[in-house]
Amino acid sequence: MVYIGMVEDKLKDWLQARISLGRYRHSLGVLEAVTGLAERYEVAAAPLRQAALLHDCAREFTNEELVATAEEWGLPVRDIDRLSPVLLHGKLAVEIARRDLGLSEPAMMSAVRWHTAGHPEMTLSDKLFYLADVTEPTRHHDWVADLKALALEDVDRALLMAIGINTDHLDRTGRTVDPDTYVLRELLLQGSTG
Ligand SMILES: [Fe+2]
Ligand SMILES: [Fe+2]
Repeated sequence: MVYIGMVEDKLKDWLQARISLGRYRHSLGVLEAVTGLAERYEVAAAPLRQAALLHDCAREFTNEELVATAEEWGLPVRDIDRLSPVLLHGKLAVEIARRDLGLSEPAMMSAVRWHTAGHPEMTLSDKLFYLADVTEPTRHHDWVADLKALALEDVDRALLMAIGINTDHLDRTGRTVDPDTYVLRELLLQGSTG
């Protein structure tokens, strides 16, 4: 069924039925965090609030489901996605929003698509979403407070810090880093992203 212009409460019910309670709470945390960042930087909050409730809707798919669904829907599946299928969950979420809910607001889709690994073409709105995902109130790592403070001061520096934390973690746990993340990091270091 397609719910055009679905109200936020309906979207919350839809999400709650699909994911674990912990991940649902995380999504509500992202909703709160991204609203604050959108206000701070004067970007449209509505698409990002929608993105918060959609971005992890496929995060609990098994590796097999992630790859099989992406293939079934004709989405590009790179070698690295086969190695680390979790990289597909944002791209699948965009497609689920469009197919199941009829939601296709460009800023929402872009934020959801790039929230996992980042991307060289991220907009300010996408960057704020990425930062909200890692600093939302249910995250309790020791670096969260510093990153949150930096996000209010300098988005690109905060994003560099977030990427560094993410790639260190992936390296330490023997997992693969998406090449898009490295390209984004280079651009941020050169000071040349959107
Ligand atoms: Fe995610
Ligand atoms: Fe998330």
